[in-house]
Amino acid sequence: MKKLIVGNWKEHFNPGTASAYYHKLNKLVEKASNVTVVLCPPTLDIYALSHELDGAKYKLGAQNLYYENEGPYTGETSAAMLKGMVDYSIIGHSERRHKFGEDNLMIAKKVGAALRNNIKPILCVGETLMDRDEELTSRVIVDQLTVGLHFVAKADLDDMVIAYEPVWAIGTGDFARPDDVAKVAKLIHNTVQELFGDESPEVPILYGGSVEPDNAKAFLDVGYIDGLLVGGASVNAEKFARIIASAST
Ligand code: PGA
Repeated sequence: MKKLIVGNWKEHFNPGTASAYYHKLNKLVEKASNVTVVLCPPTLDIYALSHELDGAKYKLGAQNLYYENEGPYTGETSAAMLKGMVDYSIIGHSERRHKFGEDNLMIAKKVGAALRNNIKPILCVGETLMDRDEELTSRVIVDQLTVGLHFVAKADLDDMVIAYEPVWAIGTGDFARPDDVAKVAKLIHNTVQELFGDESPEVPILYGGSVEPDNAKAFLDVGYIDGLLVGGASVNAEKFARIIASAST
């Protein structure tokens, strides 16, 4: 399977600085073979970048979207509005879950809306430190998947991506051990097979949480891991270019 490297820029860059950053990154990135690179800028930057980006090297993704096409939803941007401008959207990132109160049902609706609008959802799942300490990791992941994939049909699985991001590893420098990632990635794989039946299409699984150029390869070598979701290091052009290179064959 082609590796998938996703850069989540979070709340960094306005349209001007996003464009400058993109050009800086593009100078450093060779045409990567066997890698799909997805850039997820803030919503405000998407329109301009969609005209600027070298589509042969990069895909665009949103960091979030709303499931109602239009209406009285102050501050929201719908999947229908993003349609045609982005190929992917991160959905249910732990910062959306924990800082903005998104629950599994809302996330499920967003996944459904993305699919209806030809946007590939990157559904994020992951346990908090407290979940981990209480040995609830498996239960939390299975719950997040079972509800999060509720509006997904088997035929949609070709367009799904799942990212495993332990909440305690995000932005902390405290990345997960590859053998723990291997266990959760296998659990995700098995849960998808259980929910949709054996012989379901393989859904790419990403690891995210303090990915850096020095540890990227170790995660890419983990079984059932097909790529990376990168936050902090994706807004540093040198680092992100090195991470892309480590996934390229
Ligand atoms: P990080 O963020 O790489 O800065 O830990 C990952 C993410 O939030 O997707």
